[in-house]
Amino acid sequence: MTAEPVIVMAQVTKRFGGVAAVEQLSLTIGKGEIVAIVGRTGSGKSTAMQAIIGTFPVDAGRIRVAGRDPYAERRTLRGQLAVAFQTDRLLPWRRAWENVAIGLEIFHVPRPRREAIAREWLARVKMAGAEQKYPHELSGGMRQRVSFARALAVDPAIVLLDETFSQLDELTSRELRNDFMALVRSLGKTSILITHRIDEALEVGDRVVVLRTPGHVVHEAAPTPDDRADPERMAKLRTEIKAVMAD
Ligand SMILES: Nc1ncnc2c1ncn2[C@@H]1O[C@H](COP(=O)(O)OP(=O)(O)OP(=O)(O)O)[C@@H](O)[C@H]1O
Ligand SMILES: [Mg+2]
Repeated sequence: MTAEPVIVMAQVTKRFGGVAAVEQLSLTIGKGEIVAIVGRTGSGKSTAMQAIIGTFPVDAGRIRVAGRDPYAERRTLRGQLAVAFQTDRLLPWRRAWENVAIGLEIFHVPRPRREAIAREWLARVKMAGAEQKYPHELSGGMRQRVSFARALAVDPAIVLLDETFSQLDELTSRELRNDFMALVRSLGKTSILITHRIDEALEVGDRVVVLRTPGHVVHEAAPTPDDRADPERMAKLRTEIKAVMAD
């Protein structure tokens, strides 16, 4: 990896009630890299992401996000990190554009400017025309698009996705993933996508990192465009990942 590191985790351990959810996890992610994290349920994926967000202090090891301690300096990092979860978490009483503009309110952007920025981002996620709609008037996939627009509207340097595409049907999920990850890439964001799906990880990640309980890296793959164009190579990468996951 040649890019300047944006996320650094070194020997990180996080315990809940004495039980390690993440143990001695080391992972470095460079600027503009897209890293997919896979692992079985309970392997510590979400815990690792929460540690990067600064939800809690860790018990041991060192984490730096854009050179800062994400827990101690979470106020400074606010706005640099965008997070999208499995559910869209939109506010039902707010129109699509108002949902997109939420993050901008925190930064005291005046209303007309907020509306203009929200409109721009809705167009980028292919939701032009839906500005005035309420979440209940939109399909699940459309709501996720609005949720992405909201995440990106504050222009974060880092985009974290935890099972974001998992709840939709396979076609919608793939379409959304392709659109969104292409956008993330074209904007040069540094990104982590957590997923259960090995195929999704191999399609999206510059690197695919496999976690095993209790939360440490057991395998890495770096699928190239040539790999992705070759079903046999993809099958081999998939088999390798499956094997380390099952161990
Ligand atoms: N807030 C918490 N309090 C107590 N235990 C927790 C907490 N968060 C996670 N854990 C435990 O830590 C371990 C790792 O959980 P985590 O949610 O990070 O796994 P995961 O890989 O994201 O799983 P999944 O694929 O199901 O989302 C699990 O054993 C879980 O029960
Ligand atoms: Mg999880």
